[in-house]
Amino acid sequence: MTVTVDNRGKALRLALAAKFADDGALHDKRWRQAVEEVPRHLFVPAYWRLGPDGQPQRVERDDPDWMVGAYEDAALTVQMTDGVATSSSTAPSLMLRMLEALHVDDDALVLEIGTGTGYNTALLCHRLSSQQVVTVEVDAQLAGAAEARLNMLGWRPAVRVGDGALGAVGTRRFDALIATCAMPDIPAAWLTQTRPGAVLVVPVGSGVVRLVRYEDGTAGGRFEAYPAFFMAARDAGSSGSVPYPGEPDATQDRPTSLDPHDAADDHFAFACSLVLPHTAWGRTFGPDGQVASVRLWDGEGSWADVADGTVRQAGPARLWDRVEELWDNVTDDEGTPPARYRYGMTVTSDGSTVWLDNPGGTL
Ligand SMILES: C[S@@+](CC[C@H](N)C(=O)[O-])C[C@H]1O[C@@H](n2cnc3c(N)ncnc32)[C@H](O)[C@@H]1O
Repeated sequence: MTVTVDNRGKALRLALAAKFADDGALHDKRWRQAVEEVPRHLFVPAYWRLGPDGQPQRVERDDPDWMVGAYEDAALTVQMTDGVATSSSTAPSLMLRMLEALHVDDDALVLEIGTGTGYNTALLCHRLSSQQVVTVEVDAQLAGAAEARLNMLGWRPAVRVGDGALGAVGTRRFDALIATCAMPDIPAAWLTQTRPGAVLVVPVGSGVVRLVRYEDGTAGGRFEAYPAFFMAARDAGSSGSVPYPGEPDATQDRPTSLDPHDAADDHFAFACSLVLPHTAWGRTFGPDGQVASVRLWDGEGSWADVADGTVRQAGPARLWDRVEELWDNVTDDEGTPPARYRYGMTVTSDGSTVWLDNPGGTL
């Protein structure tokens, strides 16, 4: 198969690959070659990135910054639905860390969930071959555009439209699975469609779990050390965002000793993202740059506002009660929350369980 090489942006790609190698995001020379040769700019013909005013700014092909922006190590939003980002090209260094974590052999058959722009699919096709890649995207329009770009460059992976939670059937059971949308848990179908020994690399909460599928059909593994903020898996046509509760009605107020700034710490927020997966967080900052208040809401009518030592809560779930309980369970005597790599996950036919330090370690 002939793969068309687009030499525009070549110097930017070489520089990006060299930076990733220096930063420790890239070790394998075959993945490095993929970064050097796959033209990311062709997968992001227009994108939004944060402008100097902190607002999303659309960058199109005729913008002088477009090409350079395409090779920044940043997530580039490519689709907005009702003001919410619903598809992006993931930050390349994060993609590379996840791809390397798959530890693929040359003959591996890989299932990718969340085709998006098709850039990551192209990296997989470059490292393996088109015949070894199946990719699933919930949004038919995105899938069609990604497939057209891949085909234009000479790659013809199987691009399927559907809910990635249902997985896909390959020519044989998959050796590896990578998801690029955040999952609330690991779907049962992924375990039946992968072979024993297969590796699954999946965003869960604000982290990435690396699981090994065992002989008995269960899976287990630990979270990677780095943070990851993927958009949540969604149904076709939805934005996947958690609806804001609007103005609160019935409330319960009480004092709280958990400071919003401590609760917003990245490591603790990760633990919260595991235990309260469908809960959105908003925060405000004080003049000292510290988090002054937080608001949590779960889209089911429950919310909590925390500021000045008081929590106001309403709805069927007491969200802040759960956050406080989690704080007591996971932090050490100095109030330091554990890093991501200390958490793990076990998946059985009964569902997915996250744990701290060892299977059975409760959160
Ligand atoms: C972060 S983007 C994809 C990034 C992709 N790796 C790339 O390089 O462009 C996540 C993608 O997952 C898709 N997605 C969300 N929910 C999904 C689901 N249930 N099944 C399959 N794809 C889904 C979104 O439409 C979006 O395109």
